[in-house]
Amino acid sequence: MIHECHIIPEKQHHLAILMILELLNDEGFNYDDLNLWLTSNQAILIGAYVNKELVGSLMFCYYKNISYIQTLCVKSYYRKRGIGKSLVNNSVIIRPEVPLIAKVSNNNNTAKNIFDSCNFQICKSDEIPHELSDPPNSTHLFYKFKKLDSYWNLYTDSCYLNDRIRALYL
Ligand SMILES: CC(C)(COP(=O)(O)OP(=O)(O)OC[C@H]1O[C@@H](n2cnc3c(N)ncnc32)[C@H](O)[C@@H]1OP(=O)(O)O)[C@@H](O)C(=O)NCCC(=O)NCCS
Repeated sequence: MIHECHIIPEKQHHLAILMILELLNDEGFNYDDLNLWLTSNQAILIGAYVNKELVGSLMFCYYKNISYIQTLCVKSYYRKRGIGKSLVNNSVIIRPEVPLIAKVSNNNNTAKNIFDSCNFQICKSDEIPHELSDPPNSTHLFYKFKKLDSYWNLYTDSCYLNDRIRALYL
């Protein structure tokens, strides 16, 4: 099954937000916050499509000096085919100049494995940006993307998505 990733057009934001709320229903997100991040140009939604059907998404939020993966989800039927990993790999090339952080529930082994395999590492406590940190007793881990020597090849190979995002949003 072939999938492709690209920016979700504005007319599909409503559908994408409903999908996020359904698939991440334990994470405390609400429609208005997700919509506000998108409409106030603080976030980009990357979608994974199979035969033009939206089957997964990643919400990429950006602050001045940091980027943050806010949500990652794939519809149940389409899981375990590499789509989650592909969404994450597309996100690392969006803003190469600033750190990229992701928060993952400690018991979410699938998500942890995806970030491990996409060259993220667990942040030390002093690396967690203060605006993102949880209160003590957090059940979450923070991951940070590690830039590798091969990173610039990845960046070049993926410049089509990157160029479109820059042209549209940044
Ligand atoms: C987490 C989530 C996004 C992963 O999506 P996904 O598309 O299944 O992710 P991938 O296919 O890239 O990887 C998942 C697993 O499938 C395996 N896989 C990938 N391609 C495969 C293939 N062709 N055949 C068999 N297995 C495969 C991966 O090795 C991985 O295995 P693991 O669970 O043992 O680590 C999805 O499970 C989800 O939406 N969960 C609910 C929301 C959530 O937890 N989001 C993350 C919050 S940070």
